[in-house]
Amino acid sequence: MNVTSLIRRKRDGGELTASEIEALIAGYSAGDVPDYQMAAFAMAVCLRGMTSEETAALTSAMLHSGSVMQWPGIGGPVVDKHSTGGIGDKVSLVLAPLLACEGLYVPMISGRGLGPTGGTLDKLEAILGFRTDLSLDEVQRVTCEVGCVITGATEGIAPADKKLYGLRDVTATVESIPLITASIMSKKLAEGLSALVLDVKFGSGAFMKNLEDAQALARSLVATGDRMGVKTSALLTDMNQPLGRMAGNAVEVLESIDTLQGRGPEDLVEVTLALGAELLHLADVGHDITTNVERLQSHINSGAALEKFEQMVHAQHGNLKNLTPLAASHEVTALHAGYIQQINTQQLGEAIIELGGGRKVLTDKIDHSVGLEMLVRIGDRVDAGQPLVRLFARESSVSQASSMVRNAISIGDERPTQQELIV
Ligand code: URA
Repeated sequence: MNVTSLIRRKRDGGELTASEIEALIAGYSAGDVPDYQMAAFAMAVCLRGMTSEETAALTSAMLHSGSVMQWPGIGGPVVDKHSTGGIGDKVSLVLAPLLACEGLYVPMISGRGLGPTGGTLDKLEAILGFRTDLSLDEVQRVTCEVGCVITGATEGIAPADKKLYGLRDVTATVESIPLITASIMSKKLAEGLSALVLDVKFGSGAFMKNLEDAQALARSLVATGDRMGVKTSALLTDMNQPLGRMAGNAVEVLESIDTLQGRGPEDLVEVTLALGAELLHLADVGHDITTNVERLQSHINSGAALEKFEQMVHAQHGNLKNLTPLAASHEVTALHAGYIQQINTQQLGEAIIELGGGRKVLTDKIDHSVGLEMLVRIGDRVDAGQPLVRLFARESSVSQASSMVRNAISIGDERPTQQELIV
């Protein structure tokens, strides 16, 4: 393979074959293709894009750089959900046990938070003792025994993505739909799934700030999943304000438990049940979406979903009775009366980092006790002095985080029009 001519062809807008892409990724994984050539290739893709055939070939090459889980003799469909990430997005904690109650198997490989959006693993680690570093054998055992598991990627899962993602991060090549697609799908498809639902978020707290970009990403993800033989579907969901009331780590576990007990906030329940109902449809368990929603809701009502979550937590060495206690609470109040018009959700995520609940770089330590509770939503009318947000914070960060939160919430005279939660 002549790597330089391959990069040149991509740079000039040409199309690569699946075997060329495979050879490139194999060479990169083996250390034969150096970082500087891979960086040039990533930039060429960033500027020129890829066809859906090329994107699927890149995904497949990255997927097969590591292990792909096999599920011989498992008693039901193996499925998962992936979210592109947002503030207060705790859907995985509620959805995984709900799906397991339906007889589906969910080997969910999740990530940590970096930047303003939180990470599922960080949230779960607010439960003392909870292990997020299960081996592939452990993932398979817990999935088969309990029905669901939520853990981090092992070394063996799509190692080419790990290497390439590190390179993209420092070469301004993260924002490319084919590269994002291959990165996300290579990790998810390594779970050996038969169906996958994607929650592609758009808005001020999402990776994709506008609906059009989110739609383009969703189409690319779905086309790639389908091409690779996994039934895939995507919902586009609004991230112009946090999902649910709580954002942080221990606070989100508490809200997830509330939701599993039937006391969840409306928006979180709606998104979770919609994603779950779509998955039941994809997995051929039930074809009527309304009936699927009712089936999932029945597991909340009966207490089965909470019990399943407890089983998963125990299997991963945690105990819900041992949750990190919350830091002291402080209210952030409105300076004047009016309607909540906009929320800069990314800035709320940055306030959580300021509190110590998120990371600026991957090596930062998380304080699981801090976070925030939204007391208002877009469209609410507030009076001067009314509490907007409750911070759970250490004394040293209250002042800075309070002003970040206050600046993130715009209050004006006009009542804003309501946006759809699921597009
Ligand atoms: N998440 C990923 O896993 N990969 C990307 O490229 C972007 C978001």
